[in-house]
Amino acid sequence: MVRPFVSVHFAQTLDGRIAWTKARAHLSLAEGVLRAHRARATADAVLVGAETVRIDRPRLTVRAVPAPRQPLRVVLSTGLSLPLGAPLFTDGGGTLVFGTHEGADPAMREALTARGVDVELVRSDADRMASLPAVMEALVSRGVSRLLVEGGAKVLAAFVRARLVDEVEVEICPMILGGAGLSWSGVLDEPPRLSDVLTSVVDGHAFMRARLVY
Ligand SMILES: NC(=O)c1ccc[n+]([C@@H]2O[C@H](COP(=O)([O-])OP(=O)(O)OC[C@H]3O[C@@H](n4cnc5c(N)ncnc54)[C@H](OP(=O)(O)O)[C@@H]3O)[C@@H](O)[C@H]2O)c1
Repeated sequence: MVRPFVSVHFAQTLDGRIAWTKARAHLSLAEGVLRAHRARATADAVLVGAETVRIDRPRLTVRAVPAPRQPLRVVLSTGLSLPLGAPLFTDGGGTLVFGTHEGADPAMREALTARGVDVELVRSDADRMASLPAVMEALVSRGVSRLLVEGGAKVLAAFVRARLVDEVEVEICPMILGGAGLSWSGVLDEPPRLSDVLTSVVDGHAFMRARLVY
């Protein structure tokens, strides 16, 4: 499969939670935010799942470091049930939403398109989600050669499960959220190995960058 180089960047607790269930958890230090913005600045596109847009309403722009240009913002959403007032859809920057042929709500497609959002429909996978190989092909055809995936949990797991992640950068925060937290890794059957691991510690938060080997 022809696909972009895929990096993921996220923050997690010691017990592998990236958020509260159905709510954002503020896990990152300023250093983590800076690293996220650096990662965005080197990417052609930054991708998140629909639930992250519904809960966090992120901007996904590069603001903390100089950037030659802003990356394309990409959202995966089978049905296109998305908050039309979210900054991604109202700030005038480029945003592309992938829905599925079977699931996309025509009225939402029209409403997003009317706001200048690019909507592309792709085939579904076995779970009725947007097929990641189809998304990869579409991104390559749009000139994306470096893709940054920022989450959330379902999207991170889906990319790793599909063996589509080349590099990971994670901020490990000295916190435990337990059962009230959202785990990203619980659904991996064949976990990859890590290589070329680099770590550093800032104010008790560990930053780890590694290549994934499947
Ligand atoms: N700590 C961090 O670094 C970090 C980073 C980002 C997000 N988060 C947190 O993550 C939480 C959201 O995570 P989440 O797991 O609930 O949802 P998510 O991964 O953000 O989004 C999942 C949704 O994406 C859509 N989707 C379409 N195709 C998909 C595919 N092939 N694979 C996976 N998803 C696909 C589906 O939306 P439809 O419902 O439209 O079908 C699916 O329900 C939020 O609370 C946010 O705060 C944390």
